[in-house]
Amino acid sequence: MYQLDNSLRGRDFISIHDFSPREVAYILEAAMEIKKLQKAGIAHPYLAGKTLGMIFQKASTRTRVAFEVGMYQLGGHALFLSPRDIQLGRGETIKDTALVLSRMLDGIMIRTFDHDEVLELARWSSVPVINGLTDLLHPTQVIGDMQTILEHKGQLKGLKLAFIGDGNNVAHELLYGGAKMGMDVVIASPGGYEPDAVVLKQAQEDARESGATLWVVGDPAEAAKDADVIYTDVWASMGQEDEAEQKEQAFLNYQVNSGLMSLARPDAIVLHCLPAKRGKEITDEVMDGPQSAIFDESENRLHAHKAIMAVTM
Ligand code: CP
Ligand code: NVA
Repeated sequence: MYQLDNSLRGRDFISIHDFSPREVAYILEAAMEIKKLQKAGIAHPYLAGKTLGMIFQKASTRTRVAFEVGMYQLGGHALFLSPRDIQLGRGETIKDTALVLSRMLDGIMIRTFDHDEVLELARWSSVPVINGLTDLLHPTQVIGDMQTILEHKGQLKGLKLAFIGDGNNVAHELLYGGAKMGMDVVIASPGGYEPDAVVLKQAQEDARESGATLWVVGDPAEAAKDADVIYTDVWASMGQEDEAEQKEQAFLNYQVNSGLMSLARPDAIVLHCLPAKRGKEITDEVMDGPQSAIFDESENRLHAHKAIMAVTM
C-alpha cells in the first residue's frame, strides 16, 4: 500500500494558501495513489477506527458524498451534523462546539458562510479542521480540480487556466492553487464582481516562488485565448439567491459556449465545480461535449478528499 508520511498529520486544511508547493504536491500525489488503490480494488484503511464530523450550514451533494463515502473507504466513519439538529443551530458557540467535538472526533469538516467561523473552529479545535467551502474559499474543490488537470494534461506548471465568471470562492482558491503549482490563472469578471483584492495580492505573492502569473480581466474572450483549461461556476453562489436576477444581467456575456471555446487551445478542457445552471454560465453543448472533464472533476472530489483526510487526520 502507498506509504503516507506524517508531515501533515494534525494540520488544518483551510486553504491551499497555507501549504507549501511541496506539501500541495504531496496531497495531489496521495490523491492519485489512493485513486489507483480504489480502482484496483485494494483496501486502503489509512483511517481505520477514526471518525470525521461534518457540519453543513449550506447544501451539498458532492462534498458531502465524497467525504462520507471517502471516510468509509478509508476504514473510518463519518457523521453528518446538520445545524437543524446540533446545538450550534440553537446558538451554542463555535468555541464550545469545537472543544466538545475535539474530545470525540478525529477530524471536523465544516461548510459555512462566514470564513471566520472556520478560523474560529480551527482555533479551538484540537483535531484537524477541513474547510468544506466558505463564502471566501473552496479548497477541497481545487485539490480535485488540480488532480483532474494533471490527469488530462500531465502537468500544471506553465498551463493557462481561464476562469470565466464571478470572482467567488472557487475563483479565489484557484488563484491560490495556481500560485502554488506554477499554473497561470486569469479571471474574467464583469466590473464589480472581480475577485477579492486581498486574495489576489496574497496569491500573487505566493506565486513569486512558482513563477505563475495571476491576473484579472473584464473580457472573457481575452481570458479564453489560448487557454489550456476553461473553468466556470454559477453566477450566484449559495447565499446570494436575492442577487441572482441582477447578476444574470451583469454576466450575460460570460457564458462558456462553443464560441468562447473556439478561442481556447484546441485540446483545452472545460471544468465546472458544479452544481451548474445549464444554459446560463455554460451551455449543454459544452458541458456534455468532448472537451468536458466536468464529471471526472466531480469524481476526483472523492479521491482528493480521501487524500486530504488521510494525510491530516
Ligand atoms: N462542487 C461542490 O462543492 O458541490 P456540492 O455543493 O454539491 O458539495
Ligand atoms: N460558488 C459556488 C460553489 C458551489 C460548490 C457556491 O458557493 O455556491
